[in-house]
Amino acid sequence: MTFFNGCVHEGKTTGFWQEMHSATPVNTGIQRNGSQIYHYKCHECHDRNTQGAPMPGDTYDWNVRYQKGLQALVQHSIDGFNRGLMPSRGGCRNCSDQELNNAIIYMLKKAASISLIIK
Ligand code: HEC
Repeated sequence: MTFFNGCVHEGKTTGFWQEMHSATPVNTGIQRNGSQIYHYKCHECHDRNTQGAPMPGDTYDWNVRYQKGLQALVQHSIDGFNRGLMPSRGGCRNCSDQELNNAIIYMLKKAASISLIIK
């Protein structure tokens, strides 16, 4: 009998524990772009301002949030924010950190806050 170790991705893993504890493994393949991730999951709340989720076109809200820095926004997306109002990974369990980052950039661009990122 052959034993296949399904957890090892030849050095492409985003973290052993993360994979062990996620029902859905984080995507380590081709990274989806911000629009794809946004329309896959984030739009469910961020399209409608559900429980105060900042809408992509809301320049004021995103400018205020961007003051924390992009890295903080990415971290809050990974961990979740405000007692889970913003759920961990935005509810996208297979989204990689890079993909969450892409989705945030997508929303910031819609809010015209991108001028803050690209000097
Ligand atoms: C179940 C609803 C829901 C989904 C799905 C969701 N969000 Fe959120 N998100 C929220 C809410 C609510 C807030 C506002 C929390 C607050 O500031 O009180 C928020 C805030 C944020 C913030 C700002 C955090 C900060 O530090 O101010 C980012 C960034 C974010 N979401 C990214 C995402 C991304 C990326 C996705 C998709 C992968 C996503 N969200 C999916 C509800 C959601």
